Amino acid sequence: MKKIHIVLFGTGNVGSSLIQQILTAGEHLKEQEGLELKIPVIANSTTAFFQKHNQKPSWETDFKVFGFPYQLQDVLDYVREQEYENLVAVDATASEEFVDNYLTLVKEGFHIVAANKVANTRSSAFYEELRKTLRKNNKFFLYETNVGAGLPVIETLRNFHRSHEEVTRIRGVFSGSLSYIFNTFCEEERAFSEVLSEASEKGFTEPDPRVDLSGKDVGRKLLILGRELGLKKELHEVVIQDLVPRHLNGSSSLENFQKKKKDLDLDFLQLKNQLKQDEVIRHVGELDMKTGKLEVKLSREKKTSALGSLQHADSSFEIFTKSYGEQPVVIKGAGAGAAVTARGVLTDLIKLAEKLPS
Ligand SMILES: NC(=O)c1ccc[n+]([C@@H]2O[C@H](COP(=O)([O-])OP(=O)(O)OC[C@H]3O[C@@H](n4cnc5c(N)ncnc54)[C@H](OP(=O)(O)O)[C@@H]3O)[C@@H](O)[C@H]2O)c1
Repeated sequence: MKKIHIVLFGTGNVGSSLIQQILTAGEHLKEQEGLELKIPVIANSTTAFFQKHNQKPSWETDFKVFGFPYQLQDVLDYVREQEYENLVAVDATASEEFVDNYLTLVKEGFHIVAANKVANTRSSAFYEELRKTLRKNNKFFLYETNVGAGLPVIETLRNFHRSHEEVTRIRGVFSGSLSYIFNTFCEEERAFSEVLSEASEKGFTEPDPRVDLSGKDVGRKLLILGRELGLKKELHEVVIQDLVPRHLNGSSSLENFQKKKKDLDLDFLQLKNQLKQDEVIRHVGELDMKTGKLEVKLSREKKTSALGSLQHADSSFEIFTKSYGEQPVVIKGAGAGAAVTARGVLTDLIKLAEKLPS
């Protein structure tokens, strides 16, 4: 039986779903894959639970009762003391600072599986240094959920790239929250601010919806795909249409934005009124390999097109390549949500296990 030892950082939506999925899939993984996934350490930003302290049926109870304040060094000392084989750090945080630990973790013997996009969207210098350190230490870094959550977008691109298939362009609706907002806004006779509130209430947006509307998260995803194809670009080079009016942007409070979000309604109504009968508005990310341009913007799409016919909070990625010509490969489905993202992380863990010794 192959054993993988996971140190999980982040017990939020994705991290807690992942623990449940690993517990539920335990027997299946042992029987079908000959694989045992163990989680000897679980940590959030302040507290860590080390398995040696107790074993209870519920990880939440263990975490609350036996967790205590920690430093990364405590985790490193603990795993060394226990002599765990096949160590994996799972980054289910959204933290900039946590990524500072990646190089240390790799040097200390960890592989990394990340839902967090930060490491892949920092400077090219960091991006290269991380890969160099991984190679030097013979460690793997998997991050399929960085783009499209559980959808196999990065793997598909990587397969094209590895087999020398020329990817010419990628277009898509990369954000589940913005997909929901524009699908609903174009379908129904409601004010934009009303649709935005509904999207927040349903948990589709970040607590501060300006994070979604700024387009920065989509920009990060585009950069990750571009770099996957060998583009040497920085985040500031992605051209992003910010949908937040200047007087309500980051320098004004969230409370002020919530109070004044009706200010967005007129502009979006005008945009809607300019549409032809067979058109809808979509929030689109575009990557052109010929020009190297990465762009995030609103776009008018035919209702019958792949992007125009999207529903709910679905994402859609159209990958154009030389062999596929004008008919792109389309990957479509739920591009966000804790359960599908955790499932994507679990899939990365299984793929990683296949590369490791028993
Ligand atoms: N949710 C989705 O649909 C989705 C889809 C694709 C990718 N992702 C990515 O998945 C990641 C997690 O998302 P989420 O929705 O689960 O976020 P979340 O609910 O906000 O949870 C974040 C977790 O990270 C912990 N954390 C923050 N800083 C940390 C640090 N320095 N060390 C250890 N733990 C730390 C937080 O702990 P505290 O509570 O102590 O702050 C919290 O437990 C994000 O990077 C997100 O972009 C999410």
